[in-house]
Amino acid sequence: MARLLACLLLLAGAGVYWQLLPVWPSPRPEPPAPHPPAPPAHDVAARCAALHMPSGPPQHFAQRRRSDRAKPADEAPRLVVRNATVFTGHNEEVRHGADVWLEHGLIADVTESSARRSSDGWDVIEAHGRWLTPGIVDIHVHAGVYSLPSLAATMDHNSAASTLTPSLRSLDGLNPHDVSFERIASGGTTTGLVLPGSANNVGGQAFPIKLGKQTRSDARLGGWKRVIDPPASLALPHEEQRKGNDDGMQRAAGQSAFRYMKMACGENARRRYDMTRMDEARAFRGLFERARTLKNQQDAFCARVKSKGSPSDEVFPDDIELEAVVDVLRGKVKVNTHCYTTIDLEAYVRHTNEFKFPLAAFHHAHEAYLVPDLLKRTYGGTPAVALFSLNGNYKVEAIAGSPFAPAILASHNITVHLKSDHPVTDSRRVLNQAAQAAHYGFPNALTSMTSGAARTLGLDHRLGYVLPKYDADVVLWDRAPLSLGATPVQVVIDGVPQLDRSLAEAAVAHQVSHMPGPPAADLAAELERVNESGPDIIALQASATPLPIDRASDVTFTNVSVVFARTSGGKIERTALRGGEVQVVDGKIACAGKACASSLSKSRKIDLRGGTIIPGLTTVSGDLGLADITSEPDTSDGFASARSSFAALVGDDARPLARAADVIQWGGNDALRTHAAGFTSVVSAPRSQGFVSGLSTRWAPGALDAWEHSAINASVVALHAEISHLQTSQARSALSEAEQIGLLRALLRSGSDRIHAHASGSDNADVWQRVVRGDLPLVVAASRAERLSALVKLAHEHPHMRLVLAGAHEAAHGGLPEALARANVGVLLRPQTWNVEYDARRDLPGPPLSRDTTLSVLRKAGVKVGFQLEEAWQATSLLWDAAWAAEQAGLKQAEAIELVSTK
Ligand SMILES: *[C@@H]1O[C@H](CO)[C@@H](O)[C@H](O)[C@H]1NC(C)=O
Ligand SMILES: *[C@@H]1O[C@H](CO)[C@@H](O)[C@H](O)[C@H]1NC(C)=O
Ligand SMILES: *[C@@H]1O[C@H](CO)[C@@H](O)[C@H](O)[C@H]1NC(C)=O
Ligand SMILES: *[C@@H]1O[C@H](CO)[C@@H](O)[C@H](O)[C@H]1NC(C)=O
Ligand SMILES: *[C@@H]1O[C@H](CO)[C@@H](O)[C@H](O)[C@H]1NC(C)=O
Repeated sequence: MARLLACLLLLAGAGVYWQLLPVWPSPRPEPPAPHPPAPPAHDVAARCAALHMPSGPPQHFAQRRRSDRAKPADEAPRLVVRNATVFTGHNEEVRHGADVWLEHGLIADVTESSARRSSDGWDVIEAHGRWLTPGIVDIHVHAGVYSLPSLAATMDHNSAASTLTPSLRSLDGLNPHDVSFERIASGGTTTGLVLPGSANNVGGQAFPIKLGKQTRSDARLGGWKRVIDPPASLALPHEEQRKGNDDGMQRAAGQSAFRYMKMACGENARRRYDMTRMDEARAFRGLFERARTLKNQQDAFCARVKSKGSPSDEVFPDDIELEAVVDVLRGKVKVNTHCYTTIDLEAYVRHTNEFKFPLAAFHHAHEAYLVPDLLKRTYGGTPAVALFSLNGNYKVEAIAGSPFAPAILASHNITVHLKSDHPVTDSRRVLNQAAQAAHYGFPNALTSMTSGAARTLGLDHRLGYVLPKYDADVVLWDRAPLSLGATPVQVVIDGVPQLDRSLAEAAVAHQVSHMPGPPAADLAAELERVNESGPDIIALQASATPLPIDRASDVTFTNVSVVFARTSGGKIERTALRGGEVQVVDGKIACAGKACASSLSKSRKIDLRGGTIIPGLTTVSGDLGLADITSEPDTSDGFASARSSFAALVGDDARPLARAADVIQWGGNDALRTHAAGFTSVVSAPRSQGFVSGLSTRWAPGALDAWEHSAINASVVALHAEISHLQTSQARSALSEAEQIGLLRALLRSGSDRIHAHASGSDNADVWQRVVRGDLPLVVAASRAERLSALVKLAHEHPHMRLVLAGAHEAAHGGLPEALARANVGVLLRPQTWNVEYDARRDLPGPPLSRDTTLSVLRKAGVKVGFQLEEAWQATSLLWDAAWAAEQAGLKQAEAIELVSTK
């Protein structure tokens, strides 16, 4: 968890700068290459003419008959998707009973199924009315430059060279072997803008790429063929000439596709380069001023060349470090700037006006919803805002983050996109973030992730629509695309089907809904409150998330469809009420039925409009409640020291074990968000530098004070430890994983020996006796299958011990599930395991890439499973994620609730 947070800090803003100097050998003869390079430096007339050519699509692009990205027929067969419900991407249009014909890398046609056009010679996918959408466009990923599994040797997304690196290009670090490309596409995301990280104010140039598997022919060329319409500034390996212009790519001399750049304000560069915000503004302005000077020199030079009427013998003024910034000032670059806070947004809006350049999007921008009118003052038009749906509060810049931000910004006519920042969150599931935003009132979520995102990238002439002549990037979904758990049945990229049909079609057939997703929740009152509480939210005096109901008041819920209730055996039972009532008096359910007899006069009435009541949820968290703001040391308890020896744990000079109960921070931002997300209790363990971290506590995230009744439910719940790569971090003492497991074995034996010797001693020593006796569960975090196996074997030595393995990404590997079940070892999982870390590379990807998930395999083997968080903010998404995971594992709703409550 600490690892991912670190990545987040480094990633959270990046800049992309574009391309280097043109170094094409010599001007090419007609016909031009698919991607005509910039004119060579010595062709002064051509260089000058190119300066004022606007960037964008080639002139006759709309008339193309094949895609410049078309693949050979054996990889991209002629394909028709029959009888689909098509979201076209245009004006929210939905076409029922449509056939979509894909040929030459394009959508060749969209016709009525009832017309029954012959499909002889075409591969046919019968959609049976399922939804088909354009491929999802994620405008913020680091796939390829932060490739997975993450290893020190392949982290290529942040430069340490300087805070201003406009000549860096994400393409130069793009690892074609990143395992993310295929996984991301399996969730329907077909295009990603690959941005450098955010450790620099100007991080470098970005490239929009097609995701998915590489075709055999492209793989032999490397990774650059993923780039969509490379700009003229990019000197590409020689490409074969194509005759004519049937792909529409023939460009006027000097014309180029848009370039893309990543810039970043605020914390990340500040930390990396030890700057203040004033220094950052100075860095930006100095750079823009140097670029403006060069631009003026070029313009003056070209004016002289023109007036003299003949090529100058002077050299065209250029600078490989500045040329991409000059293109920014010429409006040829889609600038994407990571800026969270009002201070940063404001400074950057000033820069755009001082140096007169347009901005494509502010990214992260957690405070953007507080200053919509400021955004509208950006030079050249209002930028889009790229947000996370629920991820927030991980640093000071993110404390005002609100799930209502997309809805509020949209109400000001500001374009919003949800983005993954992959691998900070998983681009595979970025559409789920849009669904979450829709739940909180964001209109047109599907448009924002398809044609809307394509427009922000300047690529809406070819991406984002299911209409004739667009790229053949389409997704066929197993259910309405914005419903929970929506999973592709097939994904097509440039005409190439990405998924194994037998696996994908095993997906549950869902009833076809006429809406692209469920109706938005009725959160109007909370939306209005957040919309009006800006300054109080910044001051942490008001919550940016929905508030829980005041516990002191009695409530009658009306129009309740279902109640799930906890039974004495820890089971969750479902009762259908079909529009009935539930009365809560003194914090207890007093009545649940068709209509409650006594109508409570003082009681507040809440119309659930067919909603559901579930018990308060419980989960296990790394650091929830132990830091108000995860990345700020001053808001937390710090980290328990790593203990590297037996003596340090139980010897005479052992330090006491940390108890989370001593340091829970009541009423913290994450705690309140967690409570608002339905959690009434959380088990938190002390944060530590590794190995044994201390004793967890079970506490109420809704409590505002340590003295509240039942603020602490159990002051000691379990002893926690972690088997991890301690030697890689200097902050931690060097200790191999074998030594850590050995130390654990020795500690357990000491506990066992002391039981036999009837010894009593220090608290620390007694703890191990209690663990061995089974009085105190031992929770050990580990991911890799071999570590989990070693821990299960340890459990064999102590039959009474209650061992729980946390993290456990590879728990479904090989014979482990059965071994876990036999040893009665419990497992705490994230609902969606993910192969971010090397130690998780053998996780199960789940549908549509594998039939099974880690959860389904463990459940079948009879292993006890519950769901945990890795990072505090994830509580806000846990119920969504749990429901999704439970459904994929074939569990009932009640069993899904058990995974985040009684289990
Ligand atoms: C399309 O699918 C729907 C839902 O399965 C079905 O009712 C309808 O008859 C199908 N239409 C055609 C033309 O096959
Ligand atoms: C937020 O408030 C502004 C007025 O201050 C209003 O124009 C806007 O529509 C509101 N947005 C929402 C989503 O209620
Ligand atoms: C909303 O923004 C779009 C462009 O982003 C603009 O064309 C339109 O006029 C705006 N509408 C209003 C009501 O401001
Ligand atoms: C209960 O809610 C459902 C779903 O919103 C609605 O269709 C129904 O009319 C409501 N019933 C009553 C009695 O309000
Ligand atoms: C802890 O919570 C459980 C229900 O989850 C409850 O039965 C028990 O009484 C609580 N204990 C304390 C001390 O509050």
